[in-house]
Amino acid sequence: MDSSTLSVESIEPLKKIIDGKAIAQAVKNELTLAVAEASQGKSRKPGLAVVLVGENPASKAYVKSKIAACKAVGIESFLLEMAADVAPEAEAETVKKLNQDETVDGILVQLPLPEHISSATILALIDPAKDVDGLTAVNAGLLMQGAKGLFPCTPLGVMRLLEQHKVSLRGKQAVVVGRSHLVGKPLAMMLLQKDATVTICHSKTANLPEVCRQADILVAACGQAEMVKGDWVKPGAVVIDVGINRVATADGKGRLVGDVAYDQAFEKASLITPVPGGVGPMTVAMLLSNTLRAYNVAMG
Ligand code: GUN
Repeated sequence: MDSSTLSVESIEPLKKIIDGKAIAQAVKNELTLAVAEASQGKSRKPGLAVVLVGENPASKAYVKSKIAACKAVGIESFLLEMAADVAPEAEAETVKKLNQDETVDGILVQLPLPEHISSATILALIDPAKDVDGLTAVNAGLLMQGAKGLFPCTPLGVMRLLEQHKVSLRGKQAVVVGRSHLVGKPLAMMLLQKDATVTICHSKTANLPEVCRQADILVAACGQAEMVKGDWVKPGAVVIDVGINRVATADGKGRLVGDVAYDQAFEKASLITPVPGGVGPMTVAMLLSNTLRAYNVAMG
């Protein structure tokens, strides 16, 4: 459509929607150039190893998209698939070998692991310099200290979306619903680092809707489909939805929804991320960015 035929009314709502897909593509375009530049004259390109245990369909889909994204920007990828009943010692050995492998800059162990394997034990084995998920105690500690390190990709993606939309954080109330190692806690640290006043909420938080209504920046990362309702959103708030939940539909196909009741929240928010196409694509983009960072450090 010729943009001159669009009325102001039809453009304005679009401006509210944070287009994570487009921003992730822009990041990947930048990375494609940066990878080419960094590896020019070097003996090898950046390399990411992905360890996938079992047959979890969601994990398989995520891993597939991570591998495809590597290819798109010129990063080598190595997929290590292990059976669902693999011995914990065998997976541990795999990680230790990857730590020693000089062609591998990043190691990603796709979560969740089967119940008989302790993810804490496996993640603790990853060399912090190759920990592109930012899940080792060393990197978590560096984030806590406000130092440099490799930090979790989804929170990095959220921060990039906020930056891209010039959302000022200094002195603002940020409320994060969810306290996971992968998203809630590290994101709270990143928001704090940018001078927001941060509240972390969880399933035991009293008066959750009331706390959310204080938020200038409201992040839902609780893993509950459409839990955050429209009347939890302060008028003009920035709403970031980290959730990806499949809910049943009449046609049996199911549909992806976030942790925010989108249509209701849309009415209140000044900016909002959709699901899909909001935070999700950014996670993969930031994984590539972390892999390049690890490579640059490794190659001096
Ligand atoms: N499972 C779901 N999201 C993630 C992620 O970002 N990293 C890993 N390793 N596993 C996941």
